[in-house]
Amino acid sequence: MSGPHPGSPQPGSPRPGPEDRWFTRRQVTALVSVLALAAALGTAAYQAGERLAGTGGGAVVTAATGTVPDGGALYAASCAGCHGADAGGALGPALRASAAWSGADFTRAVLEGRTPDGRTLGAVMPRFAAAGLDGAPPTQAQLDALHAYLKTLP
Ligand code: HEC
Repeated sequence: MSGPHPGSPQPGSPRPGPEDRWFTRRQVTALVSVLALAAALGTAAYQAGERLAGTGGGAVVTAATGTVPDGGALYAASCAGCHGADAGGALGPALRASAAWSGADFTRAVLEGRTPDGRTLGAVMPRFAAAGLDGAPPTQAQLDALHAYLKTLP
């Protein structure tokens, strides 16, 4: 805030109308507050909507309602970007071989980055136990759904 100090009118000059000045400043402050609040609410509402409707939102909802997770949706949201839409390989390898691993071996690879032969996967492959799937560690049901989905791919 700049400008002449409202509390020190020149002697002899007409009062500068401190009330008007005060209300104007207050109105500006109020307007700024309302705009800031609107922006914050808008952002929060947008994020909430995106969580429900956006990529991965389906996984959140199925996890919360306890129905069988959609392995295809989980794969598309969290794995396809690196392993390819059809799991044929991209930045990460094709997942044909690992689809045939036991459930425990597949789970260990996805959660901790360890293969059945004891190899530690490169750091590019997320450790989903720590990285989380949709913001929380994957449930066994989600891992099973992912594994089952990969087995269905040609
Ligand atoms: C950021 C990229 C990235 C994402 C996302 C990603 N991976 Fe990977 N993944 C990799 C890379 C790279 C490797 C190979 C690492 C190596 O061999 O050292 C790998 C390896 C693997 C392997 C071991 C394959 C093998 O035959 O050795 C499995 C299984 C796997 N990923 C499953 C998944 C699943 C399931 C998801 C989704 C929940 C996922 N990955 C998400 C990059 C990624």
